Amino acid sequence: MSSIFSHQLMTWIWTVITLATCCVRVPLLGLYNLPRACRRHPKWTYRQAMGVELLRIWFAYASSVKFRFPTSLESGKERERFVVIQPSTRDIYRALPNVPKSTVKPQPMGGTWYPRLYNPSEDATQQVILHFHGGGYVLSSPRDSECGPAGLALCKSMDALSFFPQYRLATTPDGRFPAAFQDALTAYAYLIDLGVRSSNIVLSGDSAGGHLVVALLRYLSDNHGLLGDPRAALLWSPWLNLAADPADIDRSRNQTTDFLLGSFVKWAVEAFVPPDMDLKHPYIAPAYHPFSTQIPIWVQVGCLEVLHDETVLFADRMLKIRNNVVEVLEVPYAPHDIFLAASIADFEGEVADAMKVAAKFLAAKHRCLQDDLASTVSVAETSIPVDLDRAVHR
Ligand SMILES: *[C@@H]1O[C@H](CO)[C@@H](O)[C@H](O)[C@H]1NC(C)=O
Repeated sequence: MSSIFSHQLMTWIWTVITLATCCVRVPLLGLYNLPRACRRHPKWTYRQAMGVELLRIWFAYASSVKFRFPTSLESGKERERFVVIQPSTRDIYRALPNVPKSTVKPQPMGGTWYPRLYNPSEDATQQVILHFHGGGYVLSSPRDSECGPAGLALCKSMDALSFFPQYRLATTPDGRFPAAFQDALTAYAYLIDLGVRSSNIVLSGDSAGGHLVVALLRYLSDNHGLLGDPRAALLWSPWLNLAADPADIDRSRNQTTDFLLGSFVKWAVEAFVPPDMDLKHPYIAPAYHPFSTQIPIWVQVGCLEVLHDETVLFADRMLKIRNNVVEVLEVPYAPHDIFLAASIADFEGEVADAMKVAAKFLAAKHRCLQDDLASTVSVAETSIPVDLDRAVHR
């Protein structure tokens, strides 16, 4: 269904209207949020409360005009840290079960390294994080302007280099599923071909990027030995149920404390999922399809986000499968995807603390691998307490 706002002229008019109303709305919200009791959550700082308000306005606007996020393969401000990579020449793009034949083919793609390029001769033992950004498969990019702060924080806390692929967005031609998935495979094969050992690669993704990581995990587990197994996967507020009714997102108990809106989810799902595909397909709605994997999984979820329950449910279902290793960190007073929203909505303290916990999870697995105990060790099953008071009670 094409929204009336999709039309160029309507987009333009709607943009002017939004900007004009913002001139009134934002100052009023600024005043309204001064007393703690008026904020969407009383524990939030003023900047957090305002950050969430602004994100809600942005997501509502972006969904109403079906915003086309600009993408290009030119290296911009990132200079030599932005690389263009070609589809792999190996036979890694296998047909996915029960996925209708599609015209989408692997394509050249870009990606940004943080904080610097990988150097094959010096970095042989370096841990490399392969991180997929969020944005519902319709928004955002791995460039400094979107992912810079998160990329640097991730590298610092994990003592690693990281590569953020510029996977195809669903708003570009031939950008529907499985475009981003093919790009994820291309990116993983690129790291392997650079000489990074798979056991030194950590998959990571926020929101839709987490969805992409789960797809990759499923594929690597189904096609064991195709490419080596990564050391672990980190999921930050993953989006796991694309079959959820957008109206339920708006009815959620946590709707007022989140910026994820039903209208945004509706747009993203319509753009991403091919019309002839079942919304409950394992690669589309992994929430319904737990699977066995040898790759340890760490999940972060915000206690105030609309996706809280289904994320915890997915983790529980995954844990019920023998030998799976899954650990969940529930961050109090956090909305959706603080990984992405950290600098915009002042959740940097919370994210930094969560990254410390993730780093511990990776370090623990590292020791296990050395002791050759990886498959028999199971890490904490539920959320582990973390000292977030500092971050929360500022
Ligand atoms: C909202 O989050 C709380 C945890 O803080 C959870 O108990 C509740 O069920 C959540 N609701 C939804 C719909 O996710």
